[in-house]
Amino acid sequence: MQTLLTNISQLLQVREANIDKVSGAEMAHLPLLENAWLWIEDGLIKDFGTMETLPIHTSIRKIDCTGRVVLPAWCDSHTHLVYAGNRIQEFVDRINGLSYEEIANRGGGILNSAKKLHETAEDEIYEQSVLRLKEVMQQGTGAIEIKSGYGLSLEGELKMLRIIKRLKENFPVAIKATFLGAHAFPIAFKENHAGYIDLIIHEMLPAIARENLADYIDAFLETGYFSVEETESIMLAGKQYGLTAKIHVNQFTAINGIAACVKHDALSVDHLEILTDEDIESLKGSGTMPVALPSCSFFISIPYTPARKMLSAGLPLALATDFNPGTTPSGNMNLVVATACIKMKMTPEEAINAATINGAYAMGISETHGSITKGKAANLIITKPVQSYYQLPYAFGSNLIEDVIISGEIIS
Ligand code: NIG
Ligand code: FE
Repeated sequence: MQTLLTNISQLLQVREANIDKVSGAEMAHLPLLENAWLWIEDGLIKDFGTMETLPIHTSIRKIDCTGRVVLPAWCDSHTHLVYAGNRIQEFVDRINGLSYEEIANRGGGILNSAKKLHETAEDEIYEQSVLRLKEVMQQGTGAIEIKSGYGLSLEGELKMLRIIKRLKENFPVAIKATFLGAHAFPIAFKENHAGYIDLIIHEMLPAIARENLADYIDAFLETGYFSVEETESIMLAGKQYGLTAKIHVNQFTAINGIAACVKHDALSVDHLEILTDEDIESLKGSGTMPVALPSCSFFISIPYTPARKMLSAGLPLALATDFNPGTTPSGNMNLVVATACIKMKMTPEEAINAATINGAYAMGISETHGSITKGKAANLIITKPVQSYYQLPYAFGSNLIEDVIISGEIIS
């Protein structure tokens, strides 16, 4: 199947060379073509150029993109999209003055979602997750990482990862699965942390590896959750099974976790709302992508990741949603990009780089996704008529997406 997009007013993130990420000052530059065409064949980007060089081809499906911007579909490298039910009551409790920590200490938070996950049938959770995945695809997400972490037991974690596997099999979006057994200590192990770590390393990991259910491993490295040492043992164990780390760290406190993640070659460190100069130093020159989750900061009223400081230190930055029932019940990458511009003072160019090519890097797929490059997946957003791509973050509450193309096909 071949498709030709013509008269594109701005074709964004055009990269001749297959780069894996952009860092620091480079992020201010978003390469684009004006008045462009793009040729899709067999689900891939075959070629592109400006309208003077439009290939003459009659038997091809054409989509006229006059007045529209075309860009790579969003690469959302951090989500917890598979979950049961919701945590609406906690939302109201927070409005009435309780903090995320206070709610968690009363048995709410992650343990609340774990309870719901255990009480809900696998098929039912799958159906709930399908609705969320379809919604984010309509919102322009073409690649997504999904974590386990509400199972907190061998069978619970396997249940979540099998649901992710089913989503992988049944949807055209690129999906990466991350094992997050170390999300919280279950009640039975409240006084026996070593016992739970042992369970993760010696029971969960081997079983998950046997079924080949995970691509990455994660832990919630945070005061009151998993310590630096505990997270290090989990990263080391993951490595034995070929699982690279992507770690939740520095959401509420800075406890020297980032240096440990870099030491263990983590692919990404995510959250970073509280970030010290030492943390920034330890990321310099590493292959570890920092990932900011601004809609989480927005929803639970915590600081925003200090993007300007990070970019001026020369670091790269990716943006993701953190879609989960507790801290971010939204998987809308358009809102993430707008919030990064409005609240983190990222320019539209920086934010779009962070949500496409750098997001692809943070989920290990920048070879094939995240830019308009020959041979990459034809995962694209076609906007409604807009003045320029600046309108995307500017009109933050509007849906400016007209069509989403995944692997060369318009999704409905
Ligand atoms: O990324 N911080 C840890 N994990 C999630 C929240 C999980 C939850 O509250 O259910 C996060 O914000
Ligand atoms: Fe998260």
